[in-house]
Amino acid sequence: MVHTVATSGEAAAAPAVSLFVNARQIATCAGVPRARRGAEMNDAGIVTEAAVAVAGETIVAVGPQEALERWYPAAERVDCTGHVLTPGLVDSHTHAIFGRARYQEQELRAAGVGYMEIAERGGGIHASVRDLRARSEDELYALARGRLATLASYGTTTVEIKSGYGLSVDDELKSLRVIRRLQRDLPLRLVPTWLGAHEIPLEFRDSAARRSEYVKLLLREMLPRVAHERLAVFADVFCEPGVFTPDETRAILAASRDAGLALKLHADELKPSGGAELAAALGAISADHLAAVSPEGIQALASSSTVATLLPGTMLFLGKTQQAPARVLIGAGAAVALASDFNPGTSPTVNFPLILTLGVSQLHMSVAEALIAATVNGAAALNLAHRTGQLAPGFAADIAMWACEDLREIPYWYGDRRCVATWVNGRPVRFEGAFEGAAATARPAATSPGGIPHLPPSL
Ligand code: NIG
Ligand code: FE
Repeated sequence: MVHTVATSGEAAAAPAVSLFVNARQIATCAGVPRARRGAEMNDAGIVTEAAVAVAGETIVAVGPQEALERWYPAAERVDCTGHVLTPGLVDSHTHAIFGRARYQEQELRAAGVGYMEIAERGGGIHASVRDLRARSEDELYALARGRLATLASYGTTTVEIKSGYGLSVDDELKSLRVIRRLQRDLPLRLVPTWLGAHEIPLEFRDSAARRSEYVKLLLREMLPRVAHERLAVFADVFCEPGVFTPDETRAILAASRDAGLALKLHADELKPSGGAELAAALGAISADHLAAVSPEGIQALASSSTVATLLPGTMLFLGKTQQAPARVLIGAGAAVALASDFNPGTSPTVNFPLILTLGVSQLHMSVAEALIAATVNGAAALNLAHRTGQLAPGFAADIAMWACEDLREIPYWYGDRRCVATWVNGRPVRFEGAFEGAAATARPAATSPGGIPHLPPSL
């Protein structure tokens, strides 16, 4: 039951209904509002000859087009012209706040210098930290805004964004404030994550004592500011040999949980270090990467509610042949999500459909599994499975339209941009021109007399 607030003694007008008609296929991903695990992932909920009815921000019905056209005769029609509809994609792992690109490192890796070796030489994350510290909040905002516009044009409607290239109190807060401004200005659903524990900054690396000073700085100075200013929903730590140890990770995440943040973890990316087990034990919402997860880690994830978020673009870009064991994870009953890991070092892509391609070709997932991993399970990895990731009554009208006749074309045309339009909360996202005039072009919340429409009884 939806209630509206009456003003001046008059009943407030109900939002107008839009009816998405003439889609060739609708992959609804509809079902339970929680992460899908194991065999549940293999059902994309495809319907044909169906329509989607949206009232204001919310989907109110998905069902036979003929019936919905009768039920909503006055609805504004959105003609899908034979295209495919899916839920807007949910990218639950990005590092989108950064300055310059790091293309030099790609050739170094090609010549045999490892990712960790580049970091030990002061490159890698450290290079992005030096760069971000020298930039103003406005400059970082402009860079991120343009990049997110491109990202949105590939069909993504929800984006998690981490800090993590500041690594000082001021520079981490600066990064998180950029995300807050983007949240206010852009027609996307954005979720901020504090990743002050992305790396031990160079100025704290000369001794074990200095190293523990940085952990203290995170716990005593940075976290309280982040929590007090409510700048993040999640806390994340890069738990990896050479970066943060499992003990340090546990301390940082336990304090973050006490401060009211939900937990994520960069776990077992290149070498196993018990990250997945730790994520499950701490009740983290997700454990991400997992290319080197141990059998114990797989079991821990399968028997917990922690989502296993896999980032196949990262391993591909780093030139690795190893990938996360998606089939083993799904077979064990874990909930698997896919995400881009968009960042300047290991995954400089905003093309989420390409990640679906890799989910199928490198992780051996079915197209349905890859789509569920990029919608329902991505939403679950952000604690948003009740709100987005499904085309079903009661969910936000976060919708992507694709110039395809069949869902399977989305990962098939790899690298292509088949997305032709998206909507967030029922409003069309105009991604041309880096969201110029985003507020002005978003459709005004239209009103019409007659009260909130009731759901058709038999759909
Ligand atoms: O998720 N693993 C740690 N962080 C990023 C890479 C960051 C970088 O190299 O700039 C990742 O792969
Ligand atoms: Fe990452």
